[in-house]
Amino acid sequence: MQQLPELGIGVGFREQFRADVFLHRNKIDFLEITADHYFDANRKKLEELELLRQHFPLIPHGLDLSLGSAEGVDAQYLEKFADLVEKLNPAWFSEHLCFTKSGGKQIGHLAPVPYTKEAVEVIVKNISHVKRKIKTPLILENITYNVRFPSSEMSEAKFITKVLEETDCGLLLDVTNLYINSKNFNFDWRRFLDELPVERIVQLHFVGLRKNKNLLIDAHADKTDDEIWEVFREVCRRTDVKGAILERDENFPPFTEILEEIETARNLLKN
Ligand SMILES: [Fe+2]
Repeated sequence: MQQLPELGIGVGFREQFRADVFLHRNKIDFLEITADHYFDANRKKLEELELLRQHFPLIPHGLDLSLGSAEGVDAQYLEKFADLVEKLNPAWFSEHLCFTKSGGKQIGHLAPVPYTKEAVEVIVKNISHVKRKIKTPLILENITYNVRFPSSEMSEAKFITKVLEETDCGLLLDVTNLYINSKNFNFDWRRFLDELPVERIVQLHFVGLRKNKNLLIDAHADKTDDEIWEVFREVCRRTDVKGAILERDENFPPFTEILEEIETARNLLKN
């Protein structure tokens, strides 16, 4: 895997933050943008992108490449993603280890794949297709799930490891997703980290979690909890992470709270 630059700490760009990110530019090292929001974009969105590009390093984060789809990657979608990456020339770009399309139909959410050799082959094939089209390093994100397939042949960590090693991709470790899965499915997140090639962790995602009856969910709507900071701290202790993004999508707090979380993350990244 090639050496990637250190980007620091940032926030997932949302329109609600538009004024604040510029106002507090010196406290935000980089922004993650949702790639899909700039495909087929109108003039206003393109101007926004240009303005962001002039002031921040940007990392495009995709939602719908559907790397786990057996039918392959959608050519048109890939074309749009490639155009955006070419325009931004980012240090890396990211997508989820999941599928969002099946048999040509949209599923509407990030669906997990069974942890089988066959699924590894599908993902490896799709990623090699993506890599032929986009030369910029791709990093892959772990998702949350509420089902686990009985047909799985290996652990989630082993599955992720196989995909990373066979594709030579980096990992976007969402520490909140990892913590949530570890509680919902009763496993030890430290042991999960033991199984991962931690040197492949390039970037982190973090945000608070939400409790819904007995389940934890990734609502992206709450302040980062102490337990999540603990996972963040442990990952930074084990490896040299290049960047981390606070992923807040709802229940937006005053921006000072976002800045405090960025500062906490920055201190953990440095130590
Ligand atoms: Fe995430």
